[in-house]
Amino acid sequence: MLRIGMLTSGGDCQALNATMRGVVKGLSANVQELEVYGFYDGYKGLIYGNYRMLSAKDFSGILTKGGTILGTSRQPFKLMRTPDEHGLDKVEAMKQNYYKLRLDCLVILGGNGTQKTANLLREEGLNIIHLPKTIDNDIYGTDMTFGFQSAVDIATDAIDRIHTTAASHNRVFLVEVMGHKVGWLTLHAGIAGGADIILLPEIPYDIDKIIEAIHKRAASGRGFTILAVAEGAISKEDAALPKKELKEKIKKRKHPSVSYELAEQIFQKTGIEVRITVPGHTQRGGNPCPYDRVLSTRLGAEAATLIMKKEYGYMVGIINGKVKKVPLGDVAGKLKMVSPDDQLIKEAKCIGISFGV
Ligand code: F6P
Repeated sequence: MLRIGMLTSGGDCQALNATMRGVVKGLSANVQELEVYGFYDGYKGLIYGNYRMLSAKDFSGILTKGGTILGTSRQPFKLMRTPDEHGLDKVEAMKQNYYKLRLDCLVILGGNGTQKTANLLREEGLNIIHLPKTIDNDIYGTDMTFGFQSAVDIATDAIDRIHTTAASHNRVFLVEVMGHKVGWLTLHAGIAGGADIILLPEIPYDIDKIIEAIHKRAASGRGFTILAVAEGAISKEDAALPKKELKEKIKKRKHPSVSYELAEQIFQKTGIEVRITVPGHTQRGGNPCPYDRVLSTRLGAEAATLIMKKEYGYMVGIINGKVKKVPLGDVAGKLKMVSPDDQLIKEAKCIGISFGV
């Protein structure tokens, strides 16, 4: 008998269900006796013992379904060692529930924070397999996370739609793209959507260079400009501030990202009005794109293979097109950021895209 537990944690994204399906189908096809326990709402379900035994039927018809059939929640890593409001030791509670169900392995789908807790549970002696989800694509040790390509499609579609109205009205538009502290999503969607200016957290911008780029386009006869701005984008001045001061400044903003402040600065300096579009959570909603369905199926199948071989303590990622197991301890706590020297940045600059520097 093989018993596995499964949970999805952190912000949801496309292809969570497709990935769980891949794992369970891989196991069901090869293991005679299998029990799958699904924990509800991320680590919360594991802490408080809120779970259900799932059957093969539960994983049927979910390849294309967005969200997560298990539900999710954010349980910050930094609070994992802090007892809950009733004094419950969360880590101990998770271990107890794992042992009570006599699990052979716990399959955890999540992003960076989730991965840190997964690694903590591994260090505590549990058998863990982590599968990298996030629209941000910021997980170290894998070239691609599932959810990312689906979000690129949606953010690109938003920029495409802005294109036609911007061109008709000769306007400057700013599309704010998700991605938390990294710029992968904005970089890819910005290029795919034909943005003229792309602002990333990894490349602090100079407002004067942005204005220069807008004027340059106008001078060349193109009356509209599209800025793809990462929600974590930052000006050179703000990047130079002490961390505490920056935090205070961001706290005081009505909107936490820099988009509205930037639009206002452009207006103050040039008289040009900037219209803002924030596709927000639509970027991680809806069905996974075909690329993500294939990626998820591959990662799920490899996770199943590792479990059958009793090889635990890994994240399953994809490197240079090949699915690989990566030791969790080597990657947990690391962030994969865009390098300003990335080839994609160089190519974008080559075709005239401005990064505001
Ligand atoms: O990590 C995924 C993500 O969608 C980020 O891009 C974004 O910054 C964040 O989650 C939003 O989180 P929440 O859904 O908690 O507002």
